[in-house]
Amino acid sequence: MMSVSLIWGIVVAICCCFWLILGMRRRKMGEPPLENGLIPYLGCALQFGANPLEFLRANQRKHGPVFTCKLMGNYVHFITNPLSYQKVLCHGKYFDWKKFHFTTSAKAFGHKSIDPSDGNTTDNINKAFIRTLQGDALNSLTEAMMENLQLIMRTPAAPESKMPTWVTEGMYAFCYRVMFEAGYLTLFGRDLMGQDAQKALILKKLDNFKEFDKIFPALVAGLPIHVFKAAHHAREKLAEGLRHENLGKRDHMSELVRFLNDMLSTLDDTEKAKTQLAVLWASQANTIPATFWSLFQMMRSPEAMKAATEEVNKTLESAGQKISLEDQTICLNQMQLNDMPVLDSIIKESLRLSSASLNIRTAKEDFTLHLQDGSYNIRKDDIIALYPQLMHLDPEIYPDPLTFKYDRYLDENGKTKTTFYSNGLKLKYYYMPFGSGATICPGRLFAVQEIKQFLILMLSYFELEFLESNVKCPPLDQSRAGLGVLPPLNDVEFKYKFKHL
Ligand code: HEM
Repeated sequence: MMSVSLIWGIVVAICCCFWLILGMRRRKMGEPPLENGLIPYLGCALQFGANPLEFLRANQRKHGPVFTCKLMGNYVHFITNPLSYQKVLCHGKYFDWKKFHFTTSAKAFGHKSIDPSDGNTTDNINKAFIRTLQGDALNSLTEAMMENLQLIMRTPAAPESKMPTWVTEGMYAFCYRVMFEAGYLTLFGRDLMGQDAQKALILKKLDNFKEFDKIFPALVAGLPIHVFKAAHHAREKLAEGLRHENLGKRDHMSELVRFLNDMLSTLDDTEKAKTQLAVLWASQANTIPATFWSLFQMMRSPEAMKAATEEVNKTLESAGQKISLEDQTICLNQMQLNDMPVLDSIIKESLRLSSASLNIRTAKEDFTLHLQDGSYNIRKDDIIALYPQLMHLDPEIYPDPLTFKYDRYLDENGKTKTTFYSNGLKLKYYYMPFGSGATICPGRLFAVQEIKQFLILMLSYFELEFLESNVKCPPLDQSRAGLGVLPPLNDVEFKYKFKHL
């Protein structure tokens, strides 16, 4: 028995030596400094996963602004100087931005490749997202969202009580419930059954969404969904509701969902439904925590509450809108929503503090990357990554970076501020929760409008209070770093009641 273990030990040791001698990449002339990590295949993945921000800061201190790390079998070149971001984006012809995105989506949602080059889509899917989420399509989306938000918010939690009474709830749970329901109805339309039955159905979908979303980081890391029975079941249930025959029973579906069904013509119904699920996830997974942080940060700052309330009242007044629970719903058009710099600044500042997205491109061929701090040789199939949280929390660009300042994105005239500097130079990219360049989020305009609408309605219809007078800011859930806006690690209790209108 002893000798079998000994033989195995020797075999493993020899394999490790071979890996160290043959398998480990060596830095070539002109390439960025390299961190291989000590574990075969994983490389530095464990240290990166434990705290990406600290890991990247430590490597920045050790190697300078550009360095390469081995992560899950990939060589990832991190570009950390924000003055270089613009230069990275100029090298578009060397990047394949689709490869990583399409593969990750197929892995997480279980659909076939939607890469147009594989022949399953009839059009450029990215163009379709832009066409159906921006321009004219954005008008109908925001109009529908405003109606759906009010449908949900104006229905009292305790319908039997006519008097306004305080309701206590976790703020994250509240934002999750309201935004999920309103967002789902806006994209996928209303069920033709009654409102109560529809609500019950959506709450079931919400439970399934939470169950699936919980393991999303593991799926992106490459674990198969079969390991997670409950999440697998939840994903199948969500996709079931998005099958063609079920969507056919819904009214007022968004252009995006209708168009996607037509575009994926070569996929069968199950595959199409899984692609619709990817859209559901993209539309909700970041918007929900972003809504929470915007409401939380605004309520925690008396100056922000005062400035936001004044702006909301002024906008409603000049739009001739009356706040009433009996009469018509509030209605604001794009132009009126766009002219709210205080709410814009509150949302931006909340996202600056909570977002941690990883922007990734794959090198299509060997090439030289010319950056602010020098030129670097990149090998085919390597990954170029930006991690904008480093910039969002850089004290030179954003003094006192961990403090929420509601007016950080306002200039001296109260208009949107766009001048931020690093090393004395004006930055083109200073705010990137939505990514950048070819992979920038196509839903970003809608996302900001829906969060803004949510804040307007909360301030208009409700009195709002935290349960604790000196409420602490919950820590960010780092397990989702790289995926977008990080949710709070714990919920925060608050209470709300209808105003006497
Ligand atoms: C605060 C809310 C949101 C944030 C922070 C956010 C952020 C992002 C980021 C970082 C990406 C990837 C960009 C990259 O890889 O460089 C992305 C992609 C995407 N987002 Fe958003 N997003 C939000 C809301 C939305 C909404 C509301 C929708 C749709 C209704 C949406 C639809 C999409 C789609 C379809 C993609 C994939 C685009 C593609 O691969 O071509 N997002 N988003």
